[in-house]
Amino acid sequence: MIILLGGTGYIGRAYQRFFERGGIPFRSLSRDEVDYTDPDRLAAGLRYFGATFVINAAGYTGKPNVDACEDHKADCLFGNAVVPGRIRLACETVGVPWGQVSSGCIYNGTRAGKAGFTEDDAPNFSFRHPPCSFYSGTKALGEEILADAAQCYIWRLRIPFNEVDESRNYLAKIMRYQRLVDATNSLSQLDEFVGATWQLWQLRAPFGIYNVTNPGAVQTRDIVGMIQRAGVCRKAFEFFADEAEFMRTAARTPRSNCLLDSSKLARAGVRMTGVHEALETALRKWSKEPVAEAALA
Ligand SMILES: NC(=O)c1ccc[n+]([C@@H]2O[C@H](COP(=O)([O-])OP(=O)(O)OC[C@H]3O[C@@H](n4cnc5c(N)ncnc54)[C@H](OP(=O)(O)O)[C@@H]3O)[C@@H](O)[C@H]2O)c1
Repeated sequence: MIILLGGTGYIGRAYQRFFERGGIPFRSLSRDEVDYTDPDRLAAGLRYFGATFVINAAGYTGKPNVDACEDHKADCLFGNAVVPGRIRLACETVGVPWGQVSSGCIYNGTRAGKAGFTEDDAPNFSFRHPPCSFYSGTKALGEEILADAAQCYIWRLRIPFNEVDESRNYLAKIMRYQRLVDATNSLSQLDEFVGATWQLWQLRAPFGIYNVTNPGAVQTRDIVGMIQRAGVCRKAFEFFADEAEFMRTAARTPRSNCLLDSSKLARAGVRMTGVHEALETALRKWSKEPVAEAALA
């Protein structure tokens, strides 16, 4: 039985859809039902349900954006750094392999030579390498806590998007923000991310860190061009002059913009669509009403 933690969240719901569509038996556990932040309770739950693999899609994300983490530091630190360590403890006690949904936001910029950061590069947007947002700092600590975990995948997700028009989708965010920052980033098509992480486990790929992003990088202005060509939003998009203006006028904490190298994932035998093609496909299939927004709150 696959046990899914944080299945009520944006990423967790994508896992639920994936398992339901594939007819893969799973059990989603919410903190309301089993306090999985307590290692003893989680270990008991894993034994009770006969867990064979655990996916942790739980974590603290600021809403509406990472600025909110600056006001809820204890929750953020607990959800992103302490809880992964406790899940590790429970999984190791029971002897169950597992995967942690992490984030690429622990990097900023590019590696020397404008290449993407690999899994061997130390985070450069973290409490150990400031400046960083509080959120990113806690995500880097969460990885550090799992660094030598034996039966654990760390799957780095980066700016999720798909064709569903809901507030957490990056494409919907771009269409709704009043002004945009032009930056270059790696992205993850959400449903491909979920499928790729599952495939790693199905292939019994070596445990460890994987950058699970669509190959390539894309600039915000390119995405706006794609949105306009797809005809899904006809507003006049406005941009901040530069990141400094964004920081001065609209943000409280620095943002990560970065390139990740996903070749380790490909070498493990898991292919993801190139980022430009994945974006074009999402915009071609763009759907305004698949899920009631209220149900997603
Ligand atoms: N969304 C993104 O853009 C993005 C990008 C990169 C990485 N990630 C990572 O992916 C994971 C899931 O993100 P998400 O966007 O799905 O988050 P979300 O929509 O806020 O859902 C997170 C879920 O985690 C559970 N949870 C456990 N401890 C929590 C805590 N202390 N505070 C709040 N929720 C807690 C909750 O489920 P129950 O209460 O039902 O158990 C909640 O539904 C996080 O680790 C996040 O850092 C997200």
